[in-house]
Amino acid sequence: MKTTINIGLLGLGTVGTGVVKVLTGNAHEITQKVGLPVNIKSIMVRNPNKSRGLNIDALITTNIDEIISDKDIDIIVEVMGGEQPAKEYMLKALNSGKHVITANKDVVAKYGRELFEAAQKNNVDFMFEASVAGGIPIIRPLKQCLTANKITEVMGIVNGTTNYMLTKMTNEKLDYQTVLAEAQAKGYAEADPTADVGGLDAARKIAILASIAFNTRVSLDDVDVEGITNISPVDIEYARELGYVIKLLAIAKDIDNNGIDVRVHPAFIPAAHPLAAVSDVFNAIFVRGNAVGETMFYGRGAGEMPTASAVVADIVDVARDIRHNVSGRILCTCFEEKNFCPVEQTQSAYYIRLLVEDEPGVLAAIAGAFGAHNVSLNSVIQKRKVNNCAEVVLITYHVSDANIRMALNTIKDMSGLTTVKNVIRVEAQQID
Ligand code: NAP
Ligand code: HSE
Repeated sequence: MKTTINIGLLGLGTVGTGVVKVLTGNAHEITQKVGLPVNIKSIMVRNPNKSRGLNIDALITTNIDEIISDKDIDIIVEVMGGEQPAKEYMLKALNSGKHVITANKDVVAKYGRELFEAAQKNNVDFMFEASVAGGIPIIRPLKQCLTANKITEVMGIVNGTTNYMLTKMTNEKLDYQTVLAEAQAKGYAEADPTADVGGLDAARKIAILASIAFNTRVSLDDVDVEGITNISPVDIEYARELGYVIKLLAIAKDIDNNGIDVRVHPAFIPAAHPLAAVSDVFNAIFVRGNAVGETMFYGRGAGEMPTASAVVADIVDVARDIRHNVSGRILCTCFEEKNFCPVEQTQSAYYIRLLVEDEPGVLAAIAGAFGAHNVSLNSVIQKRKVNNCAEVVLITYHVSDANIRMALNTIKDMSGLTTVKNVIRVEAQQID
């Protein structure tokens, strides 16, 4: 008869520290809910000499084999981050018959299939609620509460760092480097923050969500990715003047007869859109199912305690399974092989900012080039003068990605056009 559920914790940084705090601070409630105490037996770190400010020095080790070979440890919680050695340690743990919980979207998005297969083979649980959208429950709702549905769309804001940055750049007019440093200091950003600002973190998360939602394996390579590095204060200001805000969106659609469309990119969204009000580190995800209709999930997408909330929820779930002698109930659900929609066929409206020579006939020639590629213009606004050029902002109607690319290629070669400064999609669709 088991008297305790024992954890081996890999990593004691932002998330690992939160896990220790939640497990100790809420020990009474967790013990009651599981029916047994849940205890951290060992903690693996890189630097054993670092001062941790927690009463856990006796648990610290730098030796993974010590943890994996400990027969009393039931669950490995991986919150180290990065691909290796995290993936190797998780596989070792699964192959040693230990349940594994992770917050690591890099590994889940790339090696999910391998880890699920190892979990299935060894009849253990593999859970990763915290890998997407920090504290927001979204993996479990997709896998369990919404499992009766055919999901047709998952879309939202899934990166806390960039949402924090765009909010501060919009509301407080702070510069990019200042707000990135703030997001890092608050523990929101990845160890390498280029994954956040370059859109890769959001791409990994939407790949994970799309795989679960559409029952087909979606990998990082299937996601069309663009980050926020090209967003300038002037684009944010023009968006505001036009009644929009700029957000980094992650979008996955299962389009009838056209395949799966999965992408991450900054977008203009109307100021009245529900996602426009999602500020700071908050994330929000809309899920559309054929039975339930539209659902929305909202909360803190990163940070010590919100992320620990999701990790510890997985711990409680697995501990309950251990107590009731069941495991591996809900593993991989990628039982289909669906096709992908080529990005050229996707449709959107676009914001385009150009610098052109301020000469008669230039605007008419540009409008003509767009028209020749079936790109219909909704509005054309001449803004300020920049180095003797006129800055022009165009908003198109809905057009295909292929047509907008052809039109931009044509105008780049036209005499009179100086530079295409930015091209950002406009997502005008309202949520039902
Ligand atoms: P972090 O603050 O950088 O902490 C990483 C921890 O892992 C540190 O304790 C580090 O040891 C340890 N570690 C790293 N590499 C190691 C190695 N090779 N061997 C042993 N220990 C190693 O990272 P974090 O922000 O907590 O993120 C952890 C994971 O959670 C990542 O996968 C991340 O994507 C995910 N996540 C983070 C958030 C968030 O808000 N931060 C939210 C959701 C998901 P030392 O302390 O000795 O350096
Ligand atoms: N760096 C991630 C973010 C952490 O900012 O959303 C949560 O996965």
